[in-house]
Amino acid sequence: MTTSKDVVTFQSHLVDHQRKHPEATGALSWILISVSVSAKMIAAKIRRARLEGVLGALESENVQGEVQQKLDVIADRIMRHNVGEKEPVAILGSEEEEDVHALRLQTDGERRYNVLFDPLDGSSNLDTCGAVGTIFSVLRHDRRADDPVNSVLQPGTQQVAAGYVLYGSSTVFVYTAGDGVHVFELDPNVGTFFRVKADLQIPATGKIYSLNEGNRRSMPQGYRDYLDWAQSNGYSSRYIGAMVADVHRTLLKGGVFLYPPTESSPNGKLRLLYEVNPMAMLVEQAGGKALSGDQRAMDIRPTELHQRVPIVLGSPDEVDRVYDHLK
Ligand code: AHG
Ligand code: MN
Ligand code: MN
Ligand code: MN
Repeated sequence: MTTSKDVVTFQSHLVDHQRKHPEATGALSWILISVSVSAKMIAAKIRRARLEGVLGALESENVQGEVQQKLDVIADRIMRHNVGEKEPVAILGSEEEEDVHALRLQTDGERRYNVLFDPLDGSSNLDTCGAVGTIFSVLRHDRRADDPVNSVLQPGTQQVAAGYVLYGSSTVFVYTAGDGVHVFELDPNVGTFFRVKADLQIPATGKIYSLNEGNRRSMPQGYRDYLDWAQSNGYSSRYIGAMVADVHRTLLKGGVFLYPPTESSPNGKLRLLYEVNPMAMLVEQAGGKALSGDQRAMDIRPTELHQRVPIVLGSPDEVDRVYDHLK
């Protein structure tokens, strides 16, 4: 039986968090709330997409030459509208930029944070009613940066907050502000996110590996050796093809998620600033590991906004088992 003290909404969770941090001005909470409002609006759009005829691809491509889904652009606009106009936000950076220098820089007032985001992750799943998500990363704005791009090219260790929304069988909001990972479920009947887990911890082990095995032939030998080892040791393979869904399962059930270098994506496919870094922060905050090549993913010093890197993240023991084969 839940008592009233158990009923914690996203807003009341943020109020509690702010009480513990008297130095907090509320600016970060404001940004997080605006992301949660975007999540509700995007969820509503996705769940009616087929009825409203907004599935399918556009003629346009984003700055990385990816064909855009109609909902990629709709979700991007929703995030820009809700988050971009907020007083504390200096720079917005999105996967769906039309132009790499389209970063929005607002300098009036107290612009303290940059928000980078993947407005719709796994969007190729939309037409088949598969899981999709939104990923975001919050950095402090560096006023000294001569060019706005340089104020967002910060290593993942500089993130002040990160999270994702999973639009799956339910709508889940997961975030960290550096003091643990907290999970909220949307009750669509009242339009409120209710906390279902505070301080989520990833299981230390989990016999599940998650990667696109279609790339097996083109990935470095060490990854193929790991797959042979895992398949000989009773591991299951689970791959949804949306990073948010695969990472969410990994956080809850344990296991390891990988996107290795492949022939078509020699640096891996996933973007450092708004896919790998936010997920790496969450996984580490939950007690897991997130490595890229021979380093901690969050230590990578970014060189460009849409830079791609390989990633191995998940349960600490399972990441170690992958790396036992990469040596
Ligand atoms: P996005 O839809 O934001 O472009 O991201 C898609 C990414 C990620 O969600 C997923 O893990 C990966 O693409 C799947 O790639 P493959 O289809 O190559 O496996
Ligand atoms: Mn995309
Ligand atoms: Mn993505
Ligand atoms: Mn995307």
